[in-house]
Amino acid sequence: MSAAAVDTRTNLAGIELRNPVLTASGTFGYGTEFKAFMDLRRIGGFVAKSLTLEPRFGNPPPRIAEVRAGMLNAISLENVGVEAFITEKLPEIPEGVPVIASLFGTEIPAYADVAKRLTGVPKVAGLEVNASCPHVKAGGIEFGQNPLVLAELVRTVRAATDAPLLVKLSPNVTSIAEMAKVCEAEGADGISLINAVQAMDVDVRTRRPLLKNILGGFSGPAILPLALRMVYQAAQAVKLPVCGIGGITDAEDAIKFLLCGATAIQVGTANYTNPMAAAEIADGIEAYAREHGYATTAELTGALETA
Ligand SMILES: Cc1cc2nc3c(=O)[nH]c(=O)nc-3n(C[C@H](O)[C@H](O)[C@H](O)COP(=O)(O)O)c2cc1C
Repeated sequence: MSAAAVDTRTNLAGIELRNPVLTASGTFGYGTEFKAFMDLRRIGGFVAKSLTLEPRFGNPPPRIAEVRAGMLNAISLENVGVEAFITEKLPEIPEGVPVIASLFGTEIPAYADVAKRLTGVPKVAGLEVNASCPHVKAGGIEFGQNPLVLAELVRTVRAATDAPLLVKLSPNVTSIAEMAKVCEAEGADGISLINAVQAMDVDVRTRRPLLKNILGGFSGPAILPLALRMVYQAAQAVKLPVCGIGGITDAEDAIKFLLCGATAIQVGTANYTNPMAAAEIADGIEAYAREHGYATTAELTGALETA
C-alpha cells in the first residue's frame, strides 16, 4: 500500500505555489537557463535576476570568487532591463511556473517605475523588492539598512502596485526584527531574507582582494546558521509570511528554515554546484513530511520544538 500523498501547496503572500521551494534572485538567471536541467514545474517557482528600468552592466572582473564554504560575488546587478525581460525572457517560461520578478533601482522612484511596468504582466505572479544588494555603490544596501529609507521604499512601491509584494531584507543590520516590522507597517505582503552578507577575502600571494570591487556578498553553506537566526527572529516579530534564504543546499537545510517559521524557501548558491538542487529539495521536503506523518508540508512552518 502506498503512503498517503502529502499536500505540498503553499500560499506565499498571495502567490500560489505548487511546493515551498523557489530559487533565489541572481542564481537562476531568468529561468530559461535552467530549462535544460529540469522541468521548472517541479519547483514552486523562481525569483528572476533583479531588474532595473534600463539594461545594466555589472562590475569588472574578478567579480566572483570561491571561498571556504561559500562564495563571494560583486556582480552588481547586471541585467537585461525590464523590457527585454518581458518581451524576450518571459515568453520562454512554460505556463504554470510562477515567476517572481525582483526589482532594483538606484533611487526610490525607479523601483516604483519597474514595479508598475511588471504589474499585470502574464506569468509574473509577484514582485520582490531587492532592498539589500551588498555591493552596489548607489542604492541597494542603503535602502535596506536604514529603517526610515526602507519605510519610504516599501511605501512607494506599495502605492505603485497591487501585485503580491515581497521585500528582500539585508542581513547587514543590527535588528532584523525592526526591519521586518517596517515592511509590515508599510503594507508589504511578505519578506524574504537573507541577501548575501557583506564580506571580503584576500589572496596573500598577490596581496590583492579576491574581488576587483574589494567588497562583495558572501553566500553559500557558511551563512546558513546566520540566516536561520534572522528568519527565526523575523518570523517571531511579524505576522507576514517569511521566505527563508541562505546557504540552503539540501532538503534538510530547507526544512530547518520551515521549522524556524519560513512559509517558503529559496535556493541560491547551491544552483551553481547542482542545477537540479531545488527540484531535489522539493522532493526531499515532501518525503520528510510523509515520513513524519504530516498531511501537508505547510504544517512544518513554525513547528520548531523549543520547550
Ligand atoms: C552571483 C549572485 C548574484 C546574486 N544576485 C542577486 C540579485 O540580483 N538580486 C537579489 O536580490 N539577490 C541576489 N543574490 C543573493 C541571493 O539571491 C541570495 O539572497 C544569497 O546568495 C543567499 O542565499 P544562498 O546562500 O543560498 O546563495 C545573488 C547571489 C549570488 C551568489
